[in-house]
Amino acid sequence: MTGTGTDVGKTYVSAMLVKKLREAGFDAGYYKPALSGAEVSPENGAPLGGDSARVCAVSGLQDAPNSLVSYLFKAPVSPHLASRLEGRPILLEKLEADFALARARFSFLTVEGSGGIVCPFCLDEAGENGSGRLLLEDVITAFGLDLLIVADSGLGTINAAALTAEYARLRGITVKGIIFNRYEPDNFMHSDNAAVVEMLTGAPVIARIPAGATDLDLDADRLVEFYA
Ligand SMILES: Nc1ncnc2c1ncn2[C@@H]1O[C@H](COP(=O)(O)OP(=O)(O)O)[C@@H](O)[C@H]1O
Ligand SMILES: [Mg+2]
Repeated sequence: MTGTGTDVGKTYVSAMLVKKLREAGFDAGYYKPALSGAEVSPENGAPLGGDSARVCAVSGLQDAPNSLVSYLFKAPVSPHLASRLEGRPILLEKLEADFALARARFSFLTVEGSGGIVCPFCLDEAGENGSGRLLLEDVITAFGLDLLIVADSGLGTINAAALTAEYARLRGITVKGIIFNRYEPDNFMHSDNAAVVEMLTGAPVIARIPAGATDLDLDADRLVEFYA
């Protein structure tokens, strides 16, 4: 699950997907490689897995939220910078090991990225600090994942969604679908945006989620088809 940018609704939508699948009896779960800008525990100052906590609360997943995130950083900056500030490099080996555990734990795993499609995890020299150059796209490729893209429904989304889909394809990543968030059914621009984004990207808009929605307008049987 990636988005056209940070705060576009990746976590909100991921939670709805996991909820939908779990309610239909599918063994669905969630994993996030790296989260920066983590809230901290008022008791001990430890970073909290806010995104995974939200997904667990909405979907009914009982796992400890922090166990579903590999790296939690407090600074609200890109993961490469947050990890540098905290002196804790992001290691691809750890992400791969945690991803393997999450795959073994769940049959249908939603993996939430960070930020948008261009998101650095490490830009330091290999050996000196972690993996060397590591971007979100390298993690997606290492995990062998296809993409769903969350896009806003309003003005500017044609540009953002087309750039995101095109960038992913240039990196050899398959875009399986686009989800329009904060969708207003009666807004003629929103419905036109969806049609134009489908036409320009060749990827289907698989769901349109209004503000405040608690249920996904997509059957679970159809939704599982987007999972490998
Ligand atoms: N459809 C929606 N209706 C209401 N609130 C939403 C919706 N989508 C996102 N939000 C809210 O917007 C904020 C950012 O969304 P979030 O899912 O955390 O973004 P991201 O994971 O892409 O950074 C959160 O407070 C979230 O609850
Ligand atoms: Mg999020």
